[in-house]
Amino acid sequence: MRTPIVAANWKMHKTCEEAVSYFRRLLELVPARREVELVILPPATLLFLAQKHLAGSGIAWGAQHAYPEPQGAFTGEVSVTQVADLGASFLVCGHSERRRLFGEDDGLVARKVRAALEGGLIPILCVGETLEEREAGRAWEVVRGQLAAALADLELPSPERLVIAYEPVWAIGTGVAARPQDAQEVAARIRHWLGERFPGLGERVRIQYGGSVKPDNASDFLALPDIDGALVGGASLDPESFWEIARAA
Ligand code: PGA
Repeated sequence: MRTPIVAANWKMHKTCEEAVSYFRRLLELVPARREVELVILPPATLLFLAQKHLAGSGIAWGAQHAYPEPQGAFTGEVSVTQVADLGASFLVCGHSERRRLFGEDDGLVARKVRAALEGGLIPILCVGETLEEREAGRAWEVVRGQLAAALADLELPSPERLVIAYEPVWAIGTGVAARPQDAQEVAARIRHWLGERFPGLGERVRIQYGGSVKPDNASDFLALPDIDGALVGGASLDPESFWEIARAA
């Protein structure tokens, strides 16, 4: 049995004040007993507020990005170690915005995944094809290549220590979600691949769908056999809409 996991990727949004009122409202909405794991992924400046306001709530939080070296002369960066030291549980690795806008290549993604695992964080590894790649019939080839590169030579201590987010690039932030059957097809292939890569563990790794998930389409994805949750951007910025999505799980 895989516990569903729904994550809020705030991207580069919110001030301190906005973050605090979000946390307060979310804590009012979310019942203490629930069958879905919630993860909030604020920008780095707001992580300390997640630590403060979500402590003891059972709502997890993590970072959207961190650099894999433990410390050093890396101006502007925050390390995986520092994020873990603050109490984070998750780290997004390989998000398509970071791959595309910040040159995060497969090598860096692999180092981030490894550093996250070594630092006690759970990587949320994002994979997904562009529209061109899908139209050329190469969606699975691209996703498989991203998985193989990011997870090369890696020991997975347990299936709970890894989350995969299948996010077709063309569906992110566009309002045009993938067709559920297409998301299921790729998720099933990811699961099969993980089963071979991590015998005995892979089948139990959780796979999220991400890309224009909203309250009105969340259940279409969350009901699919190989999709165990969602990575939500735009629709996660409002606590009501985020909780409505999470409830569909
Ligand atoms: P979106 O973003 O929900 O706004 O499409 C998803 C993501 O980037 O993780």
